[in-house]
Amino acid sequence: MNIVEEITKLKKEKNAIVLVHNYQRSEIQDIADSLGDSLGLAREAAKTDAGIIVFCGVRFMAETAKILSPKKMVLLPRKDAGCPMADMITAEDLRKLKEKHTDAKVVSYLNTNADVKAESDICCTSANAINVVRNIKEKKIIFTPDKNLAAYCQRFVDKEIIPWNGYCYVHEKIRKEEVRLAKERFPDALLLVHPECNPSVIDLADEVLSTSGMLNFAKKTDKKIFLIGTEEGLIYRLKKENPGKEFYAAGTAKMCRNMKLTALNDVYFSLKEERYAIELPEGINESAQKALEAMLEYV
Ligand code: 13P
Ligand code: SF4
Repeated sequence: MNIVEEITKLKKEKNAIVLVHNYQRSEIQDIADSLGDSLGLAREAAKTDAGIIVFCGVRFMAETAKILSPKKMVLLPRKDAGCPMADMITAEDLRKLKEKHTDAKVVSYLNTNADVKAESDICCTSANAINVVRNIKEKKIIFTPDKNLAAYCQRFVDKEIIPWNGYCYVHEKIRKEEVRLAKERFPDALLLVHPECNPSVIDLADEVLSTSGMLNFAKKTDKKIFLIGTEEGLIYRLKKENPGKEFYAAGTAKMCRNMKLTALNDVYFSLKEERYAIELPEGINESAQKALEAMLEYV
């Protein structure tokens, strides 16, 4: 039996599902029971009947699955797969900010650690951030940790958004100069960018979308050529699901090293030895769960 067959056998024996983020390596995408963006995968985790969830992504995604399905075993195949942006704010940082702005509601991006979610009123992902922010009735919003997503939301609402100064090192590497050159090289291409990009890159975009938002858009439109302003893993899926269309990185391909840590043998050992199980400290679950469940109301 090859490793993929072994994984399939273990999945069946253990009633497990494998959730995979769109940035994962191609061979991991190919074994997914569900492949998607942060919001889609959070929804899958909340509704699955499986006893074990193996999360191929980064830690905050697996923690989200655990918070939404606390009775299930949630496994992160690589315990070192973190998200540097999530580590840019601590719960203590957020408590201090809340003390300064007692009249503000707190929106935290899914890309945060569980104790930061527990200090937040509601979470959001790149897919529903604008809707979440729009629907808060308060005029003042603390938005953590991504300053670029906060600035993008600010374009759509007449409210005061107080951003935390975090960012994604992968999306920040996409520079407007290289994007301009890519547009010159492919004048017929549509430029799709992720809202974690710098505002100067967002200004050049035809569409600003989450990873699954880009997939849905590329499938529906008649356009044939696309420049993609996000982590390069998505391009594999875009090409696979749209054989008649062309997809190029908007500049040099940018890779998230954390997302690429998980290999097939990690998934195999994760299932076989039930490692590495996500456990959250007491007291975190309930308030973080409230913030996450509030987010699931929004598309
Ligand atoms: P999506 O929510 O679009 O999947 O993005 C998650 C992420 O980590 C982006 O860097
Ligand atoms: Fe975090 Fe950026 Fe990697 Fe997404 S791409 S997991 S935000 S470092």
